[in-house]
Amino acid sequence: MASETGNITKDPAYNAVDPSDFPSMMDVNRYGARTTAFDKIISATHDHFWDPLDKKYIDFSQPFALDKEYLMDPSQTPDLKTAIGDKLDERGKIRLVNMNVHWSFSSILHGEQGALSLSASLCHILRDPGAQEYAANQTREEARHVTGFSRYIQARWGKPVAVGPALGNLLTELVLSPLVWKKLVGMQMLVEGLAMGAFATFYKFGRDPLMVQLCQLVMTDEAFHHKFGKIWADRTIPHLSKEEAEKIEDWAWEVFNVLLFNLASPDQKSWIYRELGLDPAWCQAAFLEAMTDVNIRKEMQEASNIFRVLVKTLLKAGIITDRTRGNYAAFIDMAELHAEGDRMIGDDIAEEGIRYLQQLNGGKGAFTLSSVAAE
Ligand SMILES: [Fe+2]
Ligand SMILES: [Fe+2]
Repeated sequence: MASETGNITKDPAYNAVDPSDFPSMMDVNRYGARTTAFDKIISATHDHFWDPLDKKYIDFSQPFALDKEYLMDPSQTPDLKTAIGDKLDERGKIRLVNMNVHWSFSSILHGEQGALSLSASLCHILRDPGAQEYAANQTREEARHVTGFSRYIQARWGKPVAVGPALGNLLTELVLSPLVWKKLVGMQMLVEGLAMGAFATFYKFGRDPLMVQLCQLVMTDEAFHHKFGKIWADRTIPHLSKEEAEKIEDWAWEVFNVLLFNLASPDQKSWIYRELGLDPAWCQAAFLEAMTDVNIRKEMQEASNIFRVLVKTLLKAGIITDRTRGNYAAFIDMAELHAEGDRMIGDDIAEEGIRYLQQLNGGKGAFTLSSVAAE
């Protein structure tokens, strides 16, 4: 039932209070009412522990010739498939790709800060002690991601660039919302799903070994955060009223749109084009002209495409129904997606990373992500 505050709770593990209501946390009956749903994810954290400040795990002093080499395969920069690419010589293309990577990793860093702050806010809202321990644990993992990406950006460029308006507004809305469903659908499913797709792409197409290694280490944690969103969906979506389900479905589409049309859009990062001596308004027009639906759809067919992961997450969770299926079908082959198994795109990369960390941490091994997926 939707409460007065707008929360939609179908499983007691997600019972929520107002963020300012600390007194209800001291209710003596609360402490013993702890869900075991997240215990396996919480205990697994020691197995995949890593420390961005310890060279045993990652060494940020590895150099890279930013002005001479592409940080990632240029085939992954959409700008180069538009008229913008025709205006640049080889050196200009290297600069464009590497500035785009600077932009992407800055966006990821701001996203990690959003995930950190949002997980911490869940500790003030979720009433269940087991759910709180999960959220506190995720907060700790997001904090090392903030450290890791800060160190990478520092090593390559000195400092991050400002967040784009679309992502900045979305993250602010999610962090400040008192609604558990908005936080979980927005961050755990959409933003984290997008991040998994982005990390998989950087892992696959990155040409900087330090970047590739960092992405894999972060993925060993993110795969579990994604599972947390999935557990919520499994325990919530089937029990929603029609009105509640439609509210969540419509909101997911709204967020998807913001992410799809803004993340790669030149108007979110006009400083890059000015640096290259190009007119940002002209670049925006060239980009829009190239991004016809047909082109976008072709790009989406790539297995590692970041938006494909996102749509798969929503589809498998039951958030996309026939009401909005057509909206997404304009970009992605939904039938093909539906027929695929439950494995997510980054799971193999994450599992390989977890096995490596288990060895490094002196653990026992024999680990699969699916073994912690369900209670
Ligand atoms: Fe993260
Ligand atoms: Fe995360």
